[in-house]
Amino acid sequence: MSHAMPHHAEHSRGIHIHPSILSADFARLAEELARIRNADAVHVDVMDNHFVPNLTLGLPVVQAIRRATDLPLDVHLMIQDADRWAPAYAEAGAESVTFHAEAAGAPLRLARELRSHGAKAGMALKPATAVEPYLDLLEELDLLLLMTVEPGFGGQPFLDVILPKIRRAREALDGSGVPVALQVDGGVTRDTIMRAAEAGADVFVAGSAVYGAEDPEAAIDELRSAPLR
Ligand code: DX5
Ligand code: ZN
Repeated sequence: MSHAMPHHAEHSRGIHIHPSILSADFARLAEELARIRNADAVHVDVMDNHFVPNLTLGLPVVQAIRRATDLPLDVHLMIQDADRWAPAYAEAGAESVTFHAEAAGAPLRLARELRSHGAKAGMALKPATAVEPYLDLLEELDLLLLMTVEPGFGGQPFLDVILPKIRRAREALDGSGVPVALQVDGGVTRDTIMRAAEAGADVFVAGSAVYGAEDPEAAIDELRSAPLR
């Protein structure tokens, strides 16, 4: 499907790169954080082995990361019962806290609670979750995350089948005029970032593409300029 927008307009939103420390060395987090100083934020994947079949880190580690870097923290909660656990991550100083729509009993109330703690409210959708039922909630959100892999693990290939959903979300956001960041997470590389940006995403999580590189800061710069080429 072709895209009507002029080429420069597709990129006027800007490109924000959020490296995921899921692909970093967890025994050396402070050093790993110091290798991504040119990032726009650090993406922190919290997994509970219930919502996803993997277990990573929780609140004490997020608090330690908060002390170890000046970068904004973009916390991605892949946990059940987000209503109960998410607000503490806002209190811990995360710039944004993203819960999964599939794991929140009252997403609207939770989004408001996150904002009341001074955080940006993010909501994530797994690949098979449609965006349409959530479009009326957008004005209560600061960030919409469309997963481009099944959540749980780094290093999976980008799902091109999600591109139409990204386009539909972008159209809804542009139509409503509410300033919601449109984030994609999973399989973002120098190749796939172009397609995701063209579809309308403006915040890009990248784990293996950044920490799998010899020079993570150079990899961030390459990702940031890739959609502009
Ligand atoms: C997957 C996580 C991602 C992951 C992305 O469930 O939410 O943030 O770290 O890793 P890559 O970029 O390697 O797909
Ligand atoms: Zn993530």
